[in-house]
Parts: sequence; C-alpha cells; structure tokens
Amino acid sequence: MEIVPISPDREMLKLLQGCDLPVSDIDSSDSLYFYGCHGDGKVTGVVGLEVHGKVALIRSLAVCSNLRRFGVGGLLVQFAENMARKKGVESLFLLTTTASEFFERLGYEYYQRENAPESIKATAQFSGLCPATSSFMGKSL
Ligand SMILES: CC(C)(COP(=O)(O)OP(=O)(O)OC[C@H]1O[C@@H](n2cnc3c(N)ncnc32)[C@H](O)[C@@H]1OP(=O)(O)O)[C@@H](O)C(=O)NCCC(=O)NCCS
Repeated sequence: MEIVPISPDREMLKLLQGCDLPVSDIDSSDSLYFYGCHGDGKVTGVVGLEVHGKVALIRSLAVCSNLRRFGVGGLLVQFAENMARKKGVESLFLLTTTASEFFERLGYEYYQRENAPESIKATAQFSGLCPATSSFMGKSL
C-alpha cells in the first residue's frame, strides 16, 4: 500500500464526512498537510497533519469501512509521524471521540486539555469543532 501526499478533493471530503469528522476548517487552516492511499482511483484512507512549529495536530484520520482492521489506519498514523519528524515537529497531539484505544496502542497518552500548547488550543478543531467530551492525547516524537 502506497501512502502519498494528497490535496483535499471531493472524494477525501466524502470519506471524512461519512465518518462524521469535521471538514469546515480544511480550506482555512494554515499548515495543513494530507496523506492518503487509494484504491480503484478513490481515496480509501486519509490522515491530516496540522503543523504549528514544533507541535502538530493529527486529525482527519479515516479509513473506508471495508478496509478497516487491516492495519491501514496504523500505517497512516506512522506515515504522518514520520512526516512530522521531517518537519521538525517534536510533539503530536490529537482529539478523538472514537479512537482513543487505537491511539493508545500507538503510544499516545491522555493529557488534560488545559495543558495543551497555546498553538494547539488555537486550532479550530480544539476550540470548537471537536466536542468538549473528546479525549485529548499526545505523544513525543
Ligand atoms: C480509527 C480508524 C482510522 C482505524 O483504522 P484501521 O485501519 O481499522 O486501523 P488498524 O487496522 O491499523 O488498527 C490497528 C489496531 O487498532 C484496533 N482498532 C482499530 N480501530 C479501533 C477503534 N476505533 N477503537 C479501538 N481499537 C481500534 C484494531 O483492532 C487493530 O488492532 P489489532 O492489530 O490487534 O487488530 C478507522 O476505524 C476509522 O476510519 N474510523 C472512523 C473515523 C475515526 O474514528 N477516525 C478517528 C478520528 S480521531
């Protein structure tokens, strides 16, 4: 499976919306990178990386339902982590209501929201798009 940088397109947005993940800030977010894999000419998996200096938010992680539990999600996160390292990111954070156990397995730990770096607090995902009940997690690279 090849994971490559991708630009947001209709298929990618459809995949995210189908998973109830927020898309309204995708055009307006600075420093937002997407990586994905394809099958039959369509995006079958995607992960986003929102970089703010030495910290970044992992977001917009989705694998189409018929390809889940084959390791694709794990590979996408690993790819995003490697890209983050190359960009000089030292710590990754994320918000999730659905996949905290998945991220725990990948070495992410739970953090108090109030301890988030200011640049992460300022993201649209943190400040409004993700529910207040989301788990806030992080990992040092
Ligand atoms: C979360 C998601 C990306 C995982 O993708 P995936 O390709 O199924 O993940 P993997 O196959 O790499 O899973 C790795 C392990 O985590 C487990 N796992 C996968 N999703 C999980 C979940 N939501 N909760 C708990 N464990 C999960 C798998 O069982 C697997 O364990 P195993 O190797 O022992 O079988 C996928 O379920 C998805 O797209 N969900 C809908 C969107 C979503 O919730 N995104 C997260 C937003 S932050």
